[in-house]
Amino acid sequence: MSAGKTVLITGSSTGIGRATAELFQSNGWQVVATMRNPGAGKELAELGNVLVQRLDVTDEGSIHSAVTAAVQRFGSIDVLVNNAGYGAYGILEATSIDRMRQQFETNVIGLLAMTKAVVPGFRARGNGVIVNVSSIGGRLTLPFGGLYSGSKFAVEGISEAIGYEMREIGVRVKLVEPGIIKTNFANAMEFSNDISLWEYQRLVDKLWEVAGSMRANGAEAAVAAEVIYTAATDSTDQLRYTVGEDAKHLAAQRDSQDDSTFFAGLRTLFGQ
Ligand SMILES: NC(=O)c1ccc[n+]([C@@H]2O[C@H](COP(=O)([O-])OP(=O)(O)OC[C@H]3O[C@@H](n4cnc5c(N)ncnc54)[C@H](OP(=O)(O)O)[C@@H]3O)[C@@H](O)[C@H]2O)c1
Repeated sequence: MSAGKTVLITGSSTGIGRATAELFQSNGWQVVATMRNPGAGKELAELGNVLVQRLDVTDEGSIHSAVTAAVQRFGSIDVLVNNAGYGAYGILEATSIDRMRQQFETNVIGLLAMTKAVVPGFRARGNGVIVNVSSIGGRLTLPFGGLYSGSKFAVEGISEAIGYEMREIGVRVKLVEPGIIKTNFANAMEFSNDISLWEYQRLVDKLWEVAGSMRANGAEAAVAAEVIYTAATDSTDQLRYTVGEDAKHLAAQRDSQDDSTFFAGLRTLFGQ
């Protein structure tokens, strides 16, 4: 079905990226599974037609080495999956500027740098697909989600804009918006807090309570991988693809309600 096509995926060491690498491989694709620590890709590397490459999306040199190695091994790249990312949450007053920069450096600048590195090949051949892994947090926010949602709202805006731009060169841009997925995401998450800022602690506690009940119904990474695969291969102009019942429900609520109604619902959930 893939006819020797190649996908390059960022953040393939674990979670959604790893499940996506496995799915494309099992569907006959050539897979460039990139990750910060290639040691985590030993099992993937043993599968046929998988090239594991070191790539940190905040390190331009590693991006260029990985893209060059991919083209050397497989000839070209047909699909780029910008999946690498993590969640920086917390009280804004308690968040260091370094943490702020790092969140945008990884989730936004990293995705832009990857895209810039891969698109010249797409332009030369007149086709290609970019799948940007956003989040339902790219459509709506929760308290203390300013940095993560800010980064994913940026991914949404960038994807819409480059969708127009790259149509000129035969490239389609897709957005995948997962709800809660059972991966390492929650463990890798940063939460900046300072309990001396007592005024916020009621809401922090409430967030953990709400997040705990949301997490109980998370989908498996394989479900997100299936949606990424569909987005990459369906040959349509559809931009957004939600993953999981929670994301579908929240997106429908956000789309069908005006701002005041939607915000009032969330404030009630958080006891405000
Ligand atoms: N899980 C969820 O509930 C959920 C919901 C919505 C959206 N998402 C999005 O889905 C994507 C994948 O997350 P996941 O759930 O699979 O979480 P995960 O299991 O924590 O995987 C995140 C991946 O991103 C990689 N990564 C982080 N910083 C990187 C960098 N600077 N350069 C290269 N790779 C980097 C991690 O690499 P290391 O192993 O080296 O740390 C890991 O491979 C993220 O963009 C996330 O925002 C997840």
